[in-house]
Amino acid sequence: MEQPPGLVDFAIEHLPKMEREQFLLWAELLKKRTGMRFPDNRISFLVTNLGMRMRALGINDYQRYFDYVQNGRQGIIEWDRLIHHLTVHETRFLRHENTLALITQHYLPTSKEQCPATPVSIHTWSVGCSTGEEPYGIAMAIDDHMNTLGCEYYLGVTASDISRDAITQGQVGIYNSQKIKKIGAGWQDKYFEPTRDGRFQVIEQLRKRVCFNQLNILDIGDAPIGKMDIITCHNLLIYFDQEQRVQIANTLADHLLPGGLLMLGVGELLNWTHPHMERFHFANTLAFQRQ
Ligand SMILES: C[S@@+](CC[C@H](N)C(=O)[O-])C[C@H]1O[C@@H](n2cnc3c(N)ncnc32)[C@H](O)[C@@H]1O
Repeated sequence: MEQPPGLVDFAIEHLPKMEREQFLLWAELLKKRTGMRFPDNRISFLVTNLGMRMRALGINDYQRYFDYVQNGRQGIIEWDRLIHHLTVHETRFLRHENTLALITQHYLPTSKEQCPATPVSIHTWSVGCSTGEEPYGIAMAIDDHMNTLGCEYYLGVTASDISRDAITQGQVGIYNSQKIKKIGAGWQDKYFEPTRDGRFQVIEQLRKRVCFNQLNILDIGDAPIGKMDIITCHNLLIYFDQEQRVQIANTLADHLLPGGLLMLGVGELLNWTHPHMERFHFANTLAFQRQ
């Protein structure tokens, strides 16, 4: 098959060998800016992903690309693209079912009698939300639960991720049929509408409740994000070392209202204690409640 002009060169061009000194420079930059760790055994992953971006830009020298991503407006844009390549975005709807069960069975009212007389406000934050499946799943679970009880409520979901591309996909909220398969037919009908190209978009009413932000978790201390009732942070802390995990958990705890829940991925933070947080035991979850 004939290749479009220009593609042949990119396809056959070999990646330059990365010298150890250069690898250490990249590893240090990435650790400092994103917390990502690049031990020696991840050098080929790094080289492959840098190579993909360098080819796209026609740059054949790691140092030149290193300078490129750190300079000017083009550098900011390119840095975002690179980070999207280097981060893992795997996610799916209702991936953390027990998190949803804990929220609906133990945090929210469980009977009409428990519903407050005035509409209750619920603020949740999905940290490391990837392409939106997690925050939309939480929004659906809360909406369905509160409607079923007949409780009046206001829901605001904040969804943040370091990857601009992931955030953009989340904002659009369009998924293929495979992606929404796990959601039962009832919720599919209630919360999605078909698009002309055969995919499914989260209904506007729900999309409007989810506010996506590009945010590096290492910068949350400075982020203008208010106090939350529920914070979920699943499959993100695993990319950080223990010291950073503790710092992040401490900062997230400070973003909770009294009684609020912090839900982390099981096994992602060991032996963490915080003067205002108490472990909330519930099967297959790692949850803490603010006192
Ligand atoms: C494996 S996904 C997890 C998605 C979702 N929470 C779940 O459990 O299905 C991890 C997400 O964390 C994001 N991420 C990685 N490093 C980050 C950082 N420093 N700040 C914010 N998000 C980050 C990635 O872009 C990716 O979308």
